[in-house]
Amino acid sequence: MTEQWITACAVDDIDTEDVVRFDRGGRTYAVYRTSDDRIYATDGLCTHEEQHLAEGFVIDDIIECPLHQGRFHIPTGKAKGAPVCIDLKTYPARVVNGKVHILIGDHLP
Ligand code: FES
Repeated sequence: MTEQWITACAVDDIDTEDVVRFDRGGRTYAVYRTSDDRIYATDGLCTHEEQHLAEGFVIDDIIECPLHQGRFHIPTGKAKGAPVCIDLKTYPARVVNGKVHILIGDHLP
């Protein structure tokens, strides 16, 4: 599997306790900044009905889907109960010189 760090956005593009959408290679990702300035990345679509999670709400370490209020644990992607039961895929994320990099793999174009 080929993995590559790619630049998703600037850290300053994400408010604290918020999430932004990042698209690459026909896929969509969600990039999060927690209230204590940790950065995470997950798949961008809810595993329930493919709603964009970047339109949802970050509450501590939880992302709440805006469509049916399903919740996932951001650091692990774990589904936190109905209606979501499939975990979100997570990606390593890091900050280099004010830019958010995420490590994505074999689905690169
Ligand atoms: Fe996300 Fe239904 S689409 S909870």
